[in-house]
Amino acid sequence: MDSVLCPVLVGRNTELAELTRALDSAAAGRGGAVFITGEEGVGKSRLAKALCEQATERGMTVMTGRGTSSSVPVPYRPVAEALMGAARGGLVPGMPLMSNYRAALGSLVPEWSHPGDAKAHVSPVIIGEAVLRLLSQASRNGGLLMLEDLHFADPETLAIVDYLVDSLAGTSVLLVLTLRDNIPSAGLDLYRAATARRTATTVDVSRLSPVAVRKMAAACLTAPELPTQVSALLRVCDGLPFAVEEVMAAAVASGELARDDSGWHVNGDISTRVPDSIAGSVRSRLASLGPAASSVIVSAAVLGRQFDWTLLPRVAGVPEAAALEALEHACRVQLVEPAAADSGTTTFRFRHSLTRDAILADLMVPELVCRAAAGAAAIVQSHPGLPGNWCELAAELYVLACQPHAAARLLVTSARRDLLKGAVSSAVTALRNARKLLAESALSEPKLGIEVDEVMLEAFAQAGDSEQIAPLADDLIIRLARADADPRRQALVRLRAASTRPEDTPAAAARHLAAAAAIADQLRDSELASRTEAVGARNALGAGELDKAEQLGRRALATAEAAGLTGWAAEVALESLEVIGRSERMRDLAAASRTFERLKQIADSGELGIWRIRARHELSTVEMLRAGSASELREVRQLAADAGATCVGTVIALQLGNLASLGTDLEEAMELARSCQKSAAQIRAPRIQAMATCVEANIWVVRADRERMEEAAARAEAVLPGDPEILVTTWGQARVLAALFRDDLTRALANDAVAASHATEALASPRLVQGFYSALQAPMLAPRRAIALHALLAAVSTGLGDGDGGMNGAGGKGTGADGGARAAIEQATRTGAATSWNAGCLAYAEAVLAGRAGDRARASALADDGARQFGQFAPWWNNLARRLVAASALRDGWGSPVSWLREAASSFESTGHDQLASACRGVLRRAGERVPRSGRGSAAVPAQLRRLGVTSREMDIFLLVGQGASNAEIGTKLYISPKTVQTHVASLILKTGTACRRELVAHAARLVPS
Ligand SMILES: Nc1ncnc2c1ncn2[C@@H]1O[C@H](COP(=O)(O)OP(=O)(O)O)[C@@H](O)[C@H]1O
Ligand SMILES: [Mg+2]
Repeated sequence: MDSVLCPVLVGRNTELAELTRALDSAAAGRGGAVFITGEEGVGKSRLAKALCEQATERGMTVMTGRGTSSSVPVPYRPVAEALMGAARGGLVPGMPLMSNYRAALGSLVPEWSHPGDAKAHVSPVIIGEAVLRLLSQASRNGGLLMLEDLHFADPETLAIVDYLVDSLAGTSVLLVLTLRDNIPSAGLDLYRAATARRTATTVDVSRLSPVAVRKMAAACLTAPELPTQVSALLRVCDGLPFAVEEVMAAAVASGELARDDSGWHVNGDISTRVPDSIAGSVRSRLASLGPAASSVIVSAAVLGRQFDWTLLPRVAGVPEAAALEALEHACRVQLVEPAAADSGTTTFRFRHSLTRDAILADLMVPELVCRAAAGAAAIVQSHPGLPGNWCELAAELYVLACQPHAAARLLVTSARRDLLKGAVSSAVTALRNARKLLAESALSEPKLGIEVDEVMLEAFAQAGDSEQIAPLADDLIIRLARADADPRRQALVRLRAASTRPEDTPAAAARHLAAAAAIADQLRDSELASRTEAVGARNALGAGELDKAEQLGRRALATAEAAGLTGWAAEVALESLEVIGRSERMRDLAAASRTFERLKQIADSGELGIWRIRARHELSTVEMLRAGSASELREVRQLAADAGATCVGTVIALQLGNLASLGTDLEEAMELARSCQKSAAQIRAPRIQAMATCVEANIWVVRADRERMEEAAARAEAVLPGDPEILVTTWGQARVLAALFRDDLTRALANDAVAASHATEALASPRLVQGFYSALQAPMLAPRRAIALHALLAAVSTGLGDGDGGMNGAGGKGTGADGGARAAIEQATRTGAATSWNAGCLAYAEAVLAGRAGDRARASALADDGARQFGQFAPWWNNLARRLVAASALRDGWGSPVSWLREAASSFESTGHDQLASACRGVLRRAGERVPRSGRGSAAVPAQLRRLGVTSREMDIFLLVGQGASNAEIGTKLYISPKTVQTHVASLILKTGTACRRELVAHAARLVPS
């Protein structure tokens, strides 16, 4: 039979042009994502193919993969297919060897895997980033990643797509996704979200016009003219290209449409006998194969859209030659086509998923059961151990074959493998299916049920689904005991439960640990004992019990050392050393440094990639605490990014952003805070995300943009609603400081009071005594700043009357009220909040109290100490503290308040903190001092502008306007809000008599030639 597949692309000029433009942009470094949407058979894949050909011609790296419908999810399937295709084409990832990215890719592509990759930390985000890097690096001309049939994609592939869609801008990679938009799917949800946030565009493919359909049919027949009877046939196709080819193929297969030397001609009355549906056309061609061959093809359909033909003889019970002959015939009638297989050999696949659907729809249930059973048996026999995706396919066939236990067993295996690849969603789906199969089965198999739930517990832990863990663990413990299982299994369940959010249920965690320790004791199992101690150490650290943490950590370490520091012992040693070092860091930086060096040594010798980076992170954090230097942390951040250690990189971005927010480079701080928010959201670390949003709020404080501060604070609060730690930060830091920068002390105290009420709650929970971050994650973070600030406010707000600069005594007058301030200082010291910036606040607070007690010398010395502590940060911090204590210093006679205030006034002036500048002048004036002229900027005003009344401050802005800077840019430069800039610009327009900003810019540019 002649092939009647359309050899050319008909129509679609607009669609292809749009895709070509996206390709141009990507090649020029402006990558992006485009969805090709439309119904089945309308021509999405055909259009995608045309784009791939273009990209290949341009020398771009092209990778393609497709989703396939299956009841058992195969994680990363389309992505893995794309990568394996690239590997077959000779691509080798040229990334640093230690890198986690290569290991992540190795988990999907056997050719790229190295021994030891199993230890790598793999997740959709890491694989997504690895794919992005691979595509960007592979060719100078850019890359195209084509993922087809997103409606069938597994959840991990969707997570990767979600990640890529947001990460492509600025790369030279184009991501194209085809999607059926007329059936609900998770892929469709993703598409809607991505287009709603405008990170992706759409090319919608609609049905062909009657003219195009005729053109296509003619092209199919390679005939210049379409026989008229054929035209009549095309009416049933209704513009659907797939239907055109199907109907024509059916007509050719039945002999109704035939070719001789003079061209195509029609036999008989076509229009009445041609099937009027795709299913009908498939059915008639299948029948044309004859019963034996048709049976082979039906078995193939049971195996999947793409199938391994070598299984067919066994499944269909025919000799190999017969199977091949059937395939050949099916290819000729356009039911099946050859396809490249993962291994590079040739396999076959149904021409379209609709083709396979049509065949399966005609199958009676008992027949399906038989063929599926034969298929599963054939796979188990020819692929021992069920490597790769064979496990999922066999499980799917066992389900169809009504063999629930066999299916459930394979689903457990599949879920275990999924978890190794960080594919938690697929694992949970597989396990849920297994549970359901066992529940519906007539025969009960409690042991298998326990196995399913043991893996489920692991999956919940990986997913951070803490609510599900406690009840499942309790249930499992009972069932394991009832089944008389190995007690080690019970101990492992308990360890899992004890290490998931122990801060929420400390008593239960302790109970689990005690029980696990008892089992270890009874069995004299040193691995179990030291693992139990390591978990106990971590929990103690989280609860702020440093001595206990160190003690347990050292015990676990000793056992691990005795066991030779390999295998489990290396793992335990690393975990314990991390806990020991973090406990030490709270008290003795040098000791912590030694411990982390040891950690690094073990990680290096064991080639434990992620641990090496974690060790360096700890060391550089100590360095930051010791010397205030961020350079090493920056280096490690790069290292973490290169290696795909996203968790570490995200925490470092928070540390660095927080530090930078106290300095003068607020732009860098903002970039870090934002990038941290983004990656924290991606790896689902809400606490880090919320804290990074708090850092953003603090930056808006310094920029005197109250609205944006409020907006960011509200966003931080929305990430973890009602969380006391976050509320302490948004109220006690962002809002208090925002009020202080406006010199609104009443408001600052009111906000501080709100913060204090949350602080009580935050500090009441044991994990928060030391600050969640300080001990377990990153030290010196935000919540504790609120505590130090609170102490300073408490000190300056007591014992002062009215007319002292606007401070109202919130705690009454006289030294008796100093008790509150004293308690606040002590609290700050006790909670480890007495370092660097915080130490500056506390020193000034102490100075106020000493001065009030009559000890002037000590007060002056403490103020000097405060200035020294603030020395490494932006000047406004020290000036703000001095503005707060100046009235006390004037009254009690310590320090040098007059020169402080003069200095602060002019400094605030130059940074645009006008309210603080005039507050400083106010205090001076009331103290009877001569007050410097206000409104000074730094620029000299030319005479002609001076005559118009332009001030020096306005001149600063005028100059920047002339350089074409935006309000936001000017605001950033001069440390004032864009709104203030706008006010100055309006005033400049008035004074210079220009009509609008554009004229003002032109005027300024003339005046100040660049
Ligand atoms: N514009 C077109 N020109 C020629 N043939 C087309 C066109 N659109 C689709 N086809 C053919 O129709 C069939 C179905 O198209 P396909 O791209 O697989 O549909 P989809 O991916 O939307 O399900 C394919 O064999 C394809 O070659
Ligand atoms: Mg398609």
